[in-house]
Amino acid sequence: MRIESIRQAEHLGSVKIHGVRRILELDSGSRQGASGKSGSEAQRIDKGDIAAIEGKMAIVLPVKSEDPKVFEGVLAGVPHDCLPIIVSNSQRGEIDHFKSEQDILERFCQATQRQAIIVHQRDPFLARAIECAGYPEILDEDGFIRHGKSEGMLTGLFLAAMMGKEYIGYIDTDNFIPGAVWEYVKHYAIGFYLSTSPYTMVRILWRYKPKMLGELYFKKWGRVSELTNKHLNHFLSTKGRFETEIIKTANAGEHAMSIDLAMRLNYASGYAIETQELISILEQFGGLLPIADRTIAEKGVDIIQTETINPHLHEEREDSEHLYRDMLIPSLSVIYHSQACEESTRELIRNQIAEIEGLKLEEDVPQVTLLPPPQKADLARFAGELADQLNDISIPHGWMMAEKQTIHGTSSAAHKVVYTDLDGTLLHPVSNSYAPALTALRQLQERQIPVIFCSAKTHAEQTELRRELEVKDPFIVENGGAIFVPKDYFRLPFTYTKANQVEYVIELGALYDDIKQRLKLVAESGPGRFTTFGDMSIEEIAQVSGLNLRMAQLAKEREYSETVVMQGDKRETESVLDAITKQGLSWVFGGRFYEVSLGADKGKAVKILNELYRMNYGQIVTYGLGDGQNDAPLLAAVHHALLVQNADKRWSNLKVKDPIKVKDIGPSGWSRAVSEWVLKSP
Ligand code: GDD
Repeated sequence: MRIESIRQAEHLGSVKIHGVRRILELDSGSRQGASGKSGSEAQRIDKGDIAAIEGKMAIVLPVKSEDPKVFEGVLAGVPHDCLPIIVSNSQRGEIDHFKSEQDILERFCQATQRQAIIVHQRDPFLARAIECAGYPEILDEDGFIRHGKSEGMLTGLFLAAMMGKEYIGYIDTDNFIPGAVWEYVKHYAIGFYLSTSPYTMVRILWRYKPKMLGELYFKKWGRVSELTNKHLNHFLSTKGRFETEIIKTANAGEHAMSIDLAMRLNYASGYAIETQELISILEQFGGLLPIADRTIAEKGVDIIQTETINPHLHEEREDSEHLYRDMLIPSLSVIYHSQACEESTRELIRNQIAEIEGLKLEEDVPQVTLLPPPQKADLARFAGELADQLNDISIPHGWMMAEKQTIHGTSSAAHKVVYTDLDGTLLHPVSNSYAPALTALRQLQERQIPVIFCSAKTHAEQTELRRELEVKDPFIVENGGAIFVPKDYFRLPFTYTKANQVEYVIELGALYDDIKQRLKLVAESGPGRFTTFGDMSIEEIAQVSGLNLRMAQLAKEREYSETVVMQGDKRETESVLDAITKQGLSWVFGGRFYEVSLGADKGKAVKILNELYRMNYGQIVTYGLGDGQNDAPLLAAVHHALLVQNADKRWSNLKVKDPIKVKDIGPSGWSRAVSEWVLKSP
């Protein structure tokens, strides 16, 4: 496909709103070079790049008793690689529209060899699953998911996230033109392809919306869109010094989002949902309200608007009551009631509503029910509660059962997770060798049991060791200073402090410079002699630590702690440690040196990862392996604490409840612990 080259964009805080870009060619021919190459006029996107994104996209089709033929046409327009999720609120009973939709979908999937999901929004099992997941706001007084397109869309979002999809697109099922449906999905994929942020929304502007006025008339704007755009642009204009008309898609029913973004938005009930999505983005990430999520603020949010070639021809409900009462007023209401809306926009909206509805001057604009970000819900619980229904909601029946392992939280067996200290545990206390543990490590890897390094070692040191041992799981550095999670490791979004090229970083401890500054004050107060890795040459570190020069260099690359080497006698050491504590720092003894940090916490880091595993895999059972005092917080945060022997063939005396004392030193003990405990248990 070929799309117009980048148009103007407007920035508000971390949000970038792109001007509408037109599609120039639906098919831009076979290979003519890489995607994204820009001529001055146009940018070509390769079919393969579009298909790759479609494979990660769920298309949610809300349906309420639409014409079956039209519904069938819409299905046929959804590109093959996308997963269709049909959320119906159609009539049931004697005339059972829902049953017809199920039949149509079954025939369609059978003929096209596709998989899909279909649910009825009012099914009690769905309501129960959503309630158990902790999202009761979507339920009505009778405990069912409320009626409404918005609630249908949110149900679709839960299912798409449960299926591990990266993107979600919405398409109404009253569309008469399957080619237009196909084109919308292509737009979504192009938008995600072009965006540089993981937090992206693509909104579609129809080129024409034909009307039957005696003869077919290709009308450009609907009244509702025109008015909502106008007021939203006014709202935006008041936030800067320049008037803007950038928003052309304030009510776009056809739109898509990265799941990472979709999970973080506040939603509105009913037909205000699309406008509220924009308001929520502007409020949360446009700097209009205090920034709630620093992660997104760093990456930025992209709002991409594109214009279609196919006209939008759909079942028209022209009754002004539906247009004004159900659509326009709620859409204006969410702008009006935004905490960031100032008086001049409010006044315009009040006048607008008064004009169409006869709102009395003293009356306030009616409020729309808002729903919290779905991110607060426990998706694993949701999936777990649905486990018995997977067969029924999947078409062809049963395909989801076959893929049960890949669905969040539906596996019945608990997932095992292993945390391990390195020095003296996986690595021999004297030789630093991991050789005796290698077979056991490979066994864990074959069974896809995560092995999480949790040690005083730095990111640089652990990266080297992970590469050598082909360990690909998250890891905890510098005694709990930070957690590094490889990108794409967990399917559900989570909060992190920053990211590097390959990992998300959750920082728990203060940064090195802060610690160094405080240690300088300790030295100046003169309690005793000590030096630090930061002040030593690589050769000196190698000499005192027994590390080779390469590892000594990596050990020096500290980000969240400093290694203190004491140079005085016992009394001097005690005075130094006392002064360190007085500076607000904490220390742990690692056998030879003292690791000094501020806020780092191995136990807390393990608990955070436990939570992430639980969220993504449901039930987990955790094992911790350690050898010394500084492993106590790690061992206290797992189900099974396994203690290996020190170089003198003894076990450290730890303040941990019922540790399992494993015979053998370091890596040999590690190997024994894995085969006798981790792998033996069911
Ligand atoms: N699951 C579910 N539940 N689907 C519903 C419900 C419901 O309660 N109500 C309506 N739908 C489905 C319809 O079957 C249709 O496929 C789609 O949602 C849109 O509903 P319509 O009632 O036909 O909306 P519209 O055409 O007037 O408005 C559309 O365009 C507007 C922008 O121009 C919607 O997409 C609006 O949300 C959008 O703002």
